[in-house]
Amino acid sequence: MGRDVELRLGFPGHEVLRRAEIEDGDPVPWDLSSRHAVLGTRVPRQEGADKVTGRAKFTFDVNLPGMLHGRLLGSAHPAARIAGIDTSAAERAPGVRAVEILEDSEVHFAGQPVAAVAADTEEQAEDAIRLIVVEYRPRPFVVTLEDASKADAPPVTRGSNVRDERDQERGDVDALLASSDAVVEATYETQVQTHVPLEPHGIVARWDTADHLTVWCSTQGTFLVRDNLARALGIRHENVRVIAEHVGGGFGSKFGAKPFEVAACRMAQRTGRPVKLMADRKTEHVAMGNRPSSVQHMKAGAMKDGRLTAVILRTSGVVGIAGNARCANPIIYDFQAFRKSESSVQIHAGPSAAQRAPGHPQGVFALDQMVDELACAIEMDPLEFRKRNDRDPVRLAEYEIGAKEIGWGGRRKPAGAGSERVKTGIGMASAQWGGMGRVAEAMVVVHKDGGIEVFNGAQDIGTGTRSAMAVVAAEELGLPPERVLARIGITDWPDGPPSGGSNTAASVLPAVREAAFRARRELAGEIARELGVPEGDVGFEGGKVAIQNWAKGPIEWADACRLMSGERITATARRRDYDAGFKQGVAGCQFAEVEVDTWTGVVRVRKVVAVQDCGHVVNRATVESQIQGGVIQGIAFALFEDRILDRSTGHQLNPNMETYKLPGTLDLPEIVAIPFDVANGYNSASVVGLGEPPVIPTPAAIANAVFNATGKRVRRLPMTPDTVLAALEGER
Ligand code: MOS
Repeated sequence: MGRDVELRLGFPGHEVLRRAEIEDGDPVPWDLSSRHAVLGTRVPRQEGADKVTGRAKFTFDVNLPGMLHGRLLGSAHPAARIAGIDTSAAERAPGVRAVEILEDSEVHFAGQPVAAVAADTEEQAEDAIRLIVVEYRPRPFVVTLEDASKADAPPVTRGSNVRDERDQERGDVDALLASSDAVVEATYETQVQTHVPLEPHGIVARWDTADHLTVWCSTQGTFLVRDNLARALGIRHENVRVIAEHVGGGFGSKFGAKPFEVAACRMAQRTGRPVKLMADRKTEHVAMGNRPSSVQHMKAGAMKDGRLTAVILRTSGVVGIAGNARCANPIIYDFQAFRKSESSVQIHAGPSAAQRAPGHPQGVFALDQMVDELACAIEMDPLEFRKRNDRDPVRLAEYEIGAKEIGWGGRRKPAGAGSERVKTGIGMASAQWGGMGRVAEAMVVVHKDGGIEVFNGAQDIGTGTRSAMAVVAAEELGLPPERVLARIGITDWPDGPPSGGSNTAASVLPAVREAAFRARRELAGEIARELGVPEGDVGFEGGKVAIQNWAKGPIEWADACRLMSGERITATARRRDYDAGFKQGVAGCQFAEVEVDTWTGVVRVRKVVAVQDCGHVVNRATVESQIQGGVIQGIAFALFEDRILDRSTGHQLNPNMETYKLPGTLDLPEIVAIPFDVANGYNSASVVGLGEPPVIPTPAAIANAVFNATGKRVRRLPMTPDTVLAALEGER
């Protein structure tokens, strides 16, 4: 028997009422009527001290008795047939215990893993790799979009290099453009961004028996790794135990077990010894995934009153040997019609992969500059122009907050005015994302001594999942969050999602709340029985258990727990979705203030204001941290990062952290992270994803700020000094 409840959703000033059917045994989703003691406060990460003191063990830090060390051999050629591989010298080398061939017929990019060795020491493994003789028959290769698109280009894999053509159309584009007051046309380009997590991909594999495997893996999906390894090794899923208690970053490339990780398990199996095999930094750059490049041609129109009309987009980009280069653009502002065609171009380079908001930072780099250009063409304030074409109530409210914080009214007018050498400017852009959550389960255990554990088997890629779980359980049980110990990252525990699409929080936290709700009900029942009071009179608040009309006053939590009949109460729950909530997805906007040295072309970002919705703010500290991290990666994409492939050798010239430029602390501005709290109502905790959206608007906001400062458009990333100088010298 369920009950029908009315939820107050949205945010103050924009409240809506929605009905939800609540099953017995489930909590009513948090809404604007809920009073919260812990939710939305700043709570230190449970693992924070372990991380800063080095006690936290990442896969990279796991060292087991008798463990062998693995190394990978990368292809010397960007394209070649392999005629033979002679591993005999490597096998005879000191300390070498196993050699595994990963590719014996054909290589498609320089650095592609070809073989692996495992030896007693890292140095021995490194030496042995050099003794492997691969007989390559080099073939012609292509590493640029232009070369790969030629009719006579050597095919990278099977079929044409230009692929994944996708056309979409809605509305009468041509008529709307023909009748527009202003039409702007431009091409925007973004570079390839490689994955650079601090901890590279890798695994430590240990066979506990002939068919029981334990692995530590740097992954975004513990359960995916378990399923992949079970299938690849022909053993039962429940016999594979995956541990990822701490992960040194994962931005879209660490889903599932990679072939080299399967090879590590095989070498461990053959030698009877644990094997550790981490990708080195070069392999991480060249082989473990990247954000595809983009070339986006756009033509868009607007009316003088500020109404957007139609847009035509033609996008392409290089994807390496796999993936697609789609750009997400016409989704934020309300174009009446659009026509879009997309293609992806294969080149002899490592596969592209999902990377923090795939398609979005590059798509918005084009879209939000095009919108800025149209505002300029009809001589309207770019913020006012966006407001007239954005229907999202959250973002409309966020615009006001961000504009005030950055001082929008004081920006340079007109763009580029003045003749000083260093010019400042302000620009903005927007973001839209999903992250509504997936299937997940959680288990809450309340011990007789008052201790509480919360379990989920999914990983934390760095977002602070443990503290968020603790906040939700603590809120439900009326306790401070430090009373709750969150245990995650081991596949023995309840099912959790891969950390992709910003779905972890919105998956796991509702399950935690529902499990905590059940544990609380069970505990209340036992207390009521023991004290001979009605169950409904037992309440939990402020670390105490209060019983209505109970003369002796509230009972301390730990004393109340002692009343339970057994040693512990265990409750599990499987996350529920509610189909009527406030609004799908999350909205954000960012404002950037930059200074441009017009003599040197150096762009410095001085301040970024990021306003972002994620449903309910659970732990304000980690929400702010996610926003900061997104902005930092956005600045890195805008100004620094760039994979450089050598056209004559096909090798990446900068596969390291010295010449592949990442911002250091001195390159980073003041970042004002402003979480925007929304009672979303699609799940019991009203939580939506946050990991990806804050990276989306940053590059476009910076580019628009550069325009405001200089009056010139930089339509290509990264905005390095040479690119900026070329734009300053070129026509507007
Ligand atoms: Mo994300 S790019 O879905 O890790």
